[in-house]
Amino acid sequence: MEDNKIEKSLAAPAMISDADFRRLVAFVQQKYGIDLHQKRQLITSRLAGTIKQKGFKGYSEYIDYLLSQGSSDDINQLLSKLTTNYTYFMREIGAFEYFQSTILPDMVRRHQRDKCLAIWSAGCSSGEEPYNVSMYIMDYLGTQASAWDTRLLATDLSMNALSKAQKGIYELPDNLPAGWEKKYFVSAGAGKHQVAPHIKRNVIFRQFNLMDPIHFKRKFDVIFCRNVMIYFDQPTKKALTERFYEATVPGGYLIISMSENLSPDTPYMRVGPSIFKKK
Ligand SMILES: C[S@@+](CC[C@H](N)C(=O)[O-])C[C@H]1O[C@@H](n2cnc3c(N)ncnc32)[C@H](O)[C@@H]1O
Repeated sequence: MEDNKIEKSLAAPAMISDADFRRLVAFVQQKYGIDLHQKRQLITSRLAGTIKQKGFKGYSEYIDYLLSQGSSDDINQLLSKLTTNYTYFMREIGAFEYFQSTILPDMVRRHQRDKCLAIWSAGCSSGEEPYNVSMYIMDYLGTQASAWDTRLLATDLSMNALSKAQKGIYELPDNLPAGWEKKYFVSAGAGKHQVAPHIKRNVIFRQFNLMDPIHFKRKFDVIFCRNVMIYFDQPTKKALTERFYEATVPGGYLIISMSENLSPDTPYMRVGPSIFKKK
């Protein structure tokens, strides 16, 4: 009897019902844009542990609780389980090379007076992308960097990813340009490296849901939003691209990933395989 009880409490929750699956998918899609309707397996496997750990009887009770009285911590935990935070340094290096060879010279010319660049990494995950952009900026500006305000805004939905980003401790990739390890990282022991203080200071991390209106103080010269909209459905993607367009200065850029595209009627002009410019 006693053994049975223990077994029951340790057992994985039963499969999610169609109705509960639809409720959860609709909630996540409406609030966060993420389209999970083909991810039933992912939902059940990633939430099973949370349900057991929090003592819910099953998916139904857990979803009832989340939708009626889930705290921001509960929602953050849900999002951390359901978002895909996969990212790495030097990802799609061609975009960084275009940024350094074409976009940065253009921005530096336009900001000769205020010496202030406005760049946003939207969906920055654990921080590799914005830190990487920072390194390209420092590399380009060289000794002039201290005369510029080069701070970047980096946002994500997942608090888990953002807390990793704030720590800035990583394993280095094999294809880091020569000399960058010394210039932009310090040793963190056990084969790990932390981004150097001047790179760390240059990135401002914030939690931001890309479904929300964009009300940042300044318009952006460049928005990186790579491998984020792939999780959104077409109307969500189109609406977000329009908000990005509004939030960009004339002549500014939107950089997406090579595996994504914008809808054919986008007001942006394509200037590279994954690079778009506001007219
Ligand atoms: C695969 S990562 C991309 C990271 C980086 N941009 C790259 O290309 O390597 C996708 C990120 O988008 C974030 N994300 C998904 N939906 C979001 C939303 N509605 N608002 C903000 N961030 C979101 C996820 O939390 C995740 O960290």
